[in-house]
Amino acid sequence: MTIATAPGKVILLGEHAVVYGRPAIAVPVWQVVATAEVVDRADGAGCLIVARDLDRELWLREHDATEPLTLVTRLALAQLSLPPDPDWTITVYSEIPMASGLGSGAALSTALVRALFAHAGQPAAPETVSAIVYESERIYHGTPSGIDNTVIAYGAPIWFVKDQPPAPFRPPAPFTLVIAHTGVASPTRETVGAVRAAWQADTKRYTARFDAIAALVTAGRGAIQRGDWPLLGMLMDENQALLEELDVSSLELERLIGVARGAGALGAKLSGGGRGGNMIALVDETAAEPVAEALRAAGAAQVVVTTVT
Ligand code: PMV
Repeated sequence: MTIATAPGKVILLGEHAVVYGRPAIAVPVWQVVATAEVVDRADGAGCLIVARDLDRELWLREHDATEPLTLVTRLALAQLSLPPDPDWTITVYSEIPMASGLGSGAALSTALVRALFAHAGQPAAPETVSAIVYESERIYHGTPSGIDNTVIAYGAPIWFVKDQPPAPFRPPAPFTLVIAHTGVASPTRETVGAVRAAWQADTKRYTARFDAIAALVTAGRGAIQRGDWPLLGMLMDENQALLEELDVSSLELERLIGVARGAGALGAKLSGGGRGGNMIALVDETAAEPVAEALRAAGAAQVVVTTVT
């Protein structure tokens, strides 16, 4: 059996504006992973994809390019110059909650593509994996910027601008994030669509907001490089205020953000599409447990603490 994993991710700064060509910073979250396993089947059996969490079994030959898992399988097999219907069972499963801003779809596809490359005995370059997974993101998201597949395929913090080569980086000093799920599922396709409609209706106002986000993302890169965590926290708060102006926040998100700040976080914001899903809080290492505990007590559906290195 061949097995491969891929991490979840959060967007530290810059979601939504990134769809309009502004920069964003995203980091992998290795505490929650998606996994894919490949085993050989009897000759002539064909390729079966088992999506365990979704309780679905997909025969590769029966599904076209509108099904994300079969699409990435086909693309990976073509890239590997393998026959289009190998005698393999591919099983995928994940700890990453769906529709929550943690990149569940991209992580599942990335684990699958990595497992196929490993089973074929070929190295999987992050840019190749990312390009294949991007095609499945288009099915989940409509017009994705490509940030999710990029940060997950590289498995490292990235500075990302759409249609430009990503810049993976290592922060000079580690920093800690507490991630809390509102328990509300919110498909990114819908929030991205809502922002697009609002941007079309009031282009000037929305362009100014995207530019303001771009400026704070650039300042955030400097703050990370200098290890200036109070400034990074402040920029996250500013980003949250702008996301509220883009109308992608929610009462549940703002309640958890308030709880995290009240418990000592340096800054907090929603992460990903918004209107549900996860919020993130930047904390000093010593504040991680009190902030996590306060979020649990406030009813967060899942709390994850991650250190970005
Ligand atoms: O998949 P999510 O919910 O983390 O959203 C991705 C970030 C967006 O900027 C909202 C969309 C995109 O394609 O970049």
